[in-house]
Amino acid sequence: MAILEASRLPYRIVEKAEKLLRLEADIKALEAVAKRSLMFDACGLELMNCSGSKQEILDGVRMIDLQNCISADETFCVRCERTPSASRALRSTELESAIGEIIAQRCDGARVDLKKPDRLFFGLLYNDRFILGLVLQKRAKRSVITRRARARPFFHPSTMQPKLARCLVNLSRPPLGGRALDPFCGVGGILLEAAMIGCVTLGFDIERRMVKAAAANLRHFNLDAAGVIVADARKPPILEVDSIVTDPPYGRGASTHGSTTQEILHTFLPVAADILVPGGHLAISIPTGISLESTEPALRILERHLLRVHRSLTRQIIVLRKKS
Ligand SMILES: C[S@@+](CC[C@H](N)C(=O)[O-])C[C@H]1O[C@@H](n2cnc3c(N)ncnc32)[C@H](O)[C@@H]1O
Repeated sequence: MAILEASRLPYRIVEKAEKLLRLEADIKALEAVAKRSLMFDACGLELMNCSGSKQEILDGVRMIDLQNCISADETFCVRCERTPSASRALRSTELESAIGEIIAQRCDGARVDLKKPDRLFFGLLYNDRFILGLVLQKRAKRSVITRRARARPFFHPSTMQPKLARCLVNLSRPPLGGRALDPFCGVGGILLEAAMIGCVTLGFDIERRMVKAAAANLRHFNLDAAGVIVADARKPPILEVDSIVTDPPYGRGASTHGSTTQEILHTFLPVAADILVPGGHLAISIPTGISLESTEPALRILERHLLRVHRSLTRQIIVLRKKS
């Protein structure tokens, strides 16, 4: 949702279920999600949604308007999965072949290709329902692996893995080509993901060795930053940014330089409110136990998520919005 809001694409949530989000939105939403998100497997056009009864599913497939989905000279494949909570009465392989058979009959000439099909139909059995869609975007999984923390030239234990960093960047809702700042950038885990989605990327860190490492990590992936410089986040040498996305030091992996995280945030939040454009967002990851409540009146808390990292660390992901 944050991605669509950042891309200024209106949407309506139809249904949220395990492993599934159904939206009413412009087709451009698929491109925006595919470009920015690392949290989806596939997205596409919904073709039918019905109860999980085999009869109803197959009757539904017979009614789909296939004209815009596949042509006679194309190959296709049907993949079906079930969520853990779905009924076990139907086997997904049984559904795949029954649906495939109907599509082949209805689209004379179309052939099944399980390895490299032109068209992929994806069905999901969830709760007691079934949804079938035509996949238009799939996530390229390989590129995330190359950017994982240990695969970068410079590693630091405080750095974020790409999926979480990207998620945080998206929650900060940078507009297309917008200026995204990580004022506590460390070795650049967040900067990499902001640059990957085309943000004008800015990073500050109080330690020179971190700044050097972040710049080198960006260079390694041929990514440009508008600036990665040595600066104290509490006195940022910048006037305005569109979004701020960050992971301040907790004093475990990353040094707080004599302050507590709470003290750093107390000084940093008014500064963040100052440099954010009106309506801009700050997405921040902090340990539970640290409070952001009412420290800065210009910033309103929009979202809060809890994420267990390991036994002794649970992060809060908090999104704040600057008043328009
Ligand atoms: C948790 S790390 C950031 C990790 C980074 N997000 C990543 O994914 O690589 C926090 C960083 O804040 C830096 N830091 C601490 N106090 C700071 C301050 N006052 N201003 C700027 N940076 C600071 C530390 O040097 C450390 O590199």
